[in-house]
Amino acid sequence: MRVCVISGDGIGPEVLGAAVSVLRTVVPNVELIEVEAGWATFQRLGVALPDATLAAARVADAVLFGAVASPSHNVPGYRSPIVALRRELDLYANIRPVVGLQIDAPVCNPQSAACNLVVVRENTEGLYAGRERLEDGGDTAIAERLITRRASARIVRVAFDLARSRAAAGHAQPKVTIVHKANVLRVSDGLFRTVALEVAAGYPDITTEEMLVDVAAMWLAQYPERFDVVVTTNLFGDILSDVACIHGGGLGLASSANLGEGRALFEPVHGAAPDIVGKGIANPLAAIECVAMLLEWRRRADCAAHVRAAAARVLADGPRTPDLGGTSTTADVTRAVIARL
Ligand code: NAI
Ligand code: MG
Repeated sequence: MRVCVISGDGIGPEVLGAAVSVLRTVVPNVELIEVEAGWATFQRLGVALPDATLAAARVADAVLFGAVASPSHNVPGYRSPIVALRRELDLYANIRPVVGLQIDAPVCNPQSAACNLVVVRENTEGLYAGRERLEDGGDTAIAERLITRRASARIVRVAFDLARSRAAAGHAQPKVTIVHKANVLRVSDGLFRTVALEVAAGYPDITTEEMLVDVAAMWLAQYPERFDVVVTTNLFGDILSDVACIHGGGLGLASSANLGEGRALFEPVHGAAPDIVGKGIANPLAAIECVAMLLEWRRRADCAAHVRAAAARVLADGPRTPDLGGTSTTADVTRAVIARL
């Protein structure tokens, strides 16, 4: 198994270091190709996603990605490398599962334990298509929101297929919630909604509902148990998955898969976390779950199950990092997971 490792910036290297040591424990002969991308890379080389990194990602069996620190002001020549990687590798499906945390954690609420949902986010277009420009001498900024029939249909099919496979695995009452804002974005989300409902008609065994994005945010926060699979466009999916992840214990435990045809990149949902970088207290469990997702995708379900069981025991018994109310370090948690493996 050849895995491309892109640690990136901030806590990316801290949590991917943990993930890689777990991967090496369960697959000792794994071949790792470590390459760079991100803000530090941009400052050194003038490019955030070097060609060599993209080439390594293309030839690997899968990619593990940490996080990158993208500045919030416009820097000429800089584009978020993770957004670029998703587009270049056509990783069109961003799969963000949230399973309710069964322990008391600071971010959870009483409803959280009953949560078991997946946000399926379109990953290649929408407002993240990168079509932004200034007009009117810099006083008017315009962003184009790209929605196509092709990308909408394939992401909605992913959602319905996932609902079907979750049902087959014993998940009761499969349902897909199509989230949009077609009452205002009548043309772009109008097309997404029309195509989504057309695809839904081909899955009579799955309950379909549609919901406007603002109310979806509230329901996700308050009644997460109402949801099974949520499918939506790029920006909405980015935001809604952060809302939903509170039920799983917050960003320190939220993981995601970026899937294309025969390609996959796995990354924690969180970013570079500049407020805790270098303190050694980042929760590595989101990155470690990415290893389990990667192994499952590579049809190594046995290894994936070992990793998940070890992580679950550490979650239950400790040690825990401060985001979960504990006082332990990234290294303590990683050592505990490896000890249980
Ligand atoms: P963030 O996800 O980096 O941090 C948000 C909050 O969650 C912070 O308080 C942080 O300490 C905490 N947190 C995140 N991961 C954690 C972990 N593993 N353990 C414990 N606590 C954790 O989001 P923020 O602060 O909005 O963005 C910081 C930078 O990261 C920005 O430059 C942004 O562009 C970038 N970013 C990159 C992403 C990526 O590479 N996929 C995704 C989101 C943001
Ligand atoms: Mg995000």
